[in-house]
Amino acid sequence: MKLLGVETSCDETSVAVLDGDGRILSNVVSSQMEMHARYGGVVPELASRRHMEVLPLVLDEALALAATTLDEIDLVVATAGPGLIGALLVGLSAAKALAFARGIPFQPASHLEGHLYSPFLCADGSAARPVRYPFHGLVVSGGHSELVRAQEGQIVPLARARDDAPGEAFDKVARRAGLGYPGGPPIDRIAIRSDASHFPFKVGRFNDGSLDFTFSGLKTQLVREFEKRGLGADVSESDVAGELADLLAGFQRAVVEQLVDRLDRVHSADGIERLALSGGVAANSELRDTLERWGSERGVEVLLPDRRLTGDNAAMVAFAGLLSFRRDGSRDFLAVNARSRWPLGG
Ligand code: KG4
Ligand code: ZN
Repeated sequence: MKLLGVETSCDETSVAVLDGDGRILSNVVSSQMEMHARYGGVVPELASRRHMEVLPLVLDEALALAATTLDEIDLVVATAGPGLIGALLVGLSAAKALAFARGIPFQPASHLEGHLYSPFLCADGSAARPVRYPFHGLVVSGGHSELVRAQEGQIVPLARARDDAPGEAFDKVARRAGLGYPGGPPIDRIAIRSDASHFPFKVGRFNDGSLDFTFSGLKTQLVREFEKRGLGADVSESDVAGELADLLAGFQRAVVEQLVDRLDRVHSADGIERLALSGGVAANSELRDTLERWGSERGVEVLLPDRRLTGDNAAMVAFAGLLSFRRDGSRDFLAVNARSRWPLGG
């Protein structure tokens, strides 16, 4: 079996070819990041237009790299949400048309389920690891922050972002520091050579005992610290030093500590057997190191996604689609529409 995955929910146009064992035969990602960078974030209208331009090229490249043709594809999967409606519609419509024209099944997939299962994929061409239930999933990206418990055929939401997603907070803080977009990677690198303990920020929590995440207060505190010190002109990453560097490291530490705080609370209440981390922010070095330590101290198996699979990509979408297809069988999904909002388990 071979399947095709299509992902156009935000600013990456991606097509992947997988086999029935979840082996990645190709996973082409064309990023629009540079185009959006000058605006400091993704411009939806520009994103959809760029998806239309590059999707046919990305599809051809993915098929060529997988040494396959459309004749050999047995299933087409595309992200149906959540994401930017105009952007989603490009990939979804193309995938539906392809499946319809070829008389093969079409399977819609959730972008967040794609992230959720991405730690089970291998980036080196081996078959996917078996998905063992139950597991807890922490999806942290530019648009989302969700903690769930996954059972076979059911995802139970435990916590989600009530305001900014963690990646969004990284991006906004970096922009105020004059570091450009996306903000996660430079802050990650700066934090490695800085001292987070100079600026300890409080872990954000809600008074009602909720496990939900909140990062906008932290972002505001940081921006206030920048203003007090007159920081925030455009800087190149290598020039970031002193208080600015330590503030950014303190910010990153506080993000990680809040995520760990929620995991600690879930673990002591219900016990976590296995934790799968995913999403763009799962590329963060401090988060990865901290969670690995957290898991080994508590006997929790921690699955980290390959760094090449943390950002948006079609392989993860294809894999989520394959799991649904295997579980529920082939159904007629050609009438499915794009959904801008689609929380895990919803
Ligand atoms: O999952 P993703 O590619 O797109 C969404 O679905 O949102 O995540 C992108 C986000 C951006 O906000 C980016 O700044 C963040 O992931 N990110 C990071 C790192 N690499 C990317 N955040 C922290 N540390 C990183 N190393
Ligand atoms: Zn994503």
